[in-house]
Amino acid sequence: MTRHVGDRATSLVGLGGASWSIHDEVDEPGAIATIHAALSAGITLIDTARAYTTVDHPAHNEAVIARALASCGAPVDDVFIVTKGGHFRADHDTWAEDGRPEALRADVERSLLALGRESHDLYLLHKPDASVAIDESVGALAELQRESKIVRLGVSNVSDEQLTQALRIAPISAVENSFSPFRQDDRPLLERCTSLGIAYLAYSPLRSGRGFATDRTIFADSLALADEAGVSAYQLWLGWLLHQAPGLIPIVGANSPRTITDSAGAACIEFDPEWWASVDRELAAASLLVS
Ligand SMILES: NC(=O)c1ccc[n+]([C@@H]2O[C@H](COP(=O)([O-])OP(=O)(O)OC[C@H]3O[C@@H](n4cnc5c(N)ncnc54)[C@H](OP(=O)(O)O)[C@@H]3O)[C@@H](O)[C@H]2O)c1
Repeated sequence: MTRHVGDRATSLVGLGGASWSIHDEVDEPGAIATIHAALSAGITLIDTARAYTTVDHPAHNEAVIARALASCGAPVDDVFIVTKGGHFRADHDTWAEDGRPEALRADVERSLLALGRESHDLYLLHKPDASVAIDESVGALAELQRESKIVRLGVSNVSDEQLTQALRIAPISAVENSFSPFRQDDRPLLERCTSLGIAYLAYSPLRSGRGFATDRTIFADSLALADEAGVSAYQLWLGWLLHQAPGLIPIVGANSPRTITDSAGAACIEFDPEWWASVDRELAAASLLVS
């Protein structure tokens, strides 16, 4: 089973690495073990960014991913790496945007170096910079694509209007926005991406308004449904997301082999539409789905 980003097939569930680098405590062996477990569990998409870094490293997350792939002892050519630029860590608590063409060029080059790759499978404008027209930022990435430094282009944290503007400049293979069962305000854009054949990378897929799905109330309320289906509560939520659109790929964060192996199992959930409709009814009755 696969999903697609443009012409490229990927796993149904993607692994996101932000938490390996942005928190005060960095556990590189833990991050590498998590990446290795993800690959063993069939995950072939890893999401990273220039912004996911420690205070003192220019590209910590990408460097950790490169080391994990180099040490995994298996062919890694089919690992699809999504990275992003135009957004950076300015200091311990501050992140900022820089969507100027020269900044994006430097970001693209720095990330290639850190990843040890010749070209980016998928490169996203991380966050439109309010002081630079999005046409200019996407135009700069399109120029880098013509130079073969980027294979596919995408945008993240965009509105419908910003996607329209980006599409006027270059073909867009993916949008990466926030979408979870508990935060669905981006559904119109998800539907637009589906109709245009643009992959929708759903970031923070387990995050609710009240925190992560580890929130005990959500967990307890959904557990009966998950038990009935013979899956974990997290698999139920990720399966529900996969069921929303054929081009949706949840980008799930993980800090341990256990959690990513469990999340990867969501790709195997196949129930009929009637079963999912009954899940929707029960989740709605328990006020768990937030639109
Ligand atoms: N484009 C953007 O602007 C943007 C913004 C935010 C995030 N992202 C991407 O999205 C990724 C994920 O986002 P996120 O980390 O905010 O949120 P998330 O994936 O919704 O939640 C991650 C949390 O859920 C837990 N978890 C995941 N699967 C689990 C399982 N099967 N069982 C138990 N616990 C489980 C993890 O636990 P453990 O820590 O115990 O493993 C972690 O604490 C990021 O790493 C990043 O790649 C992108």
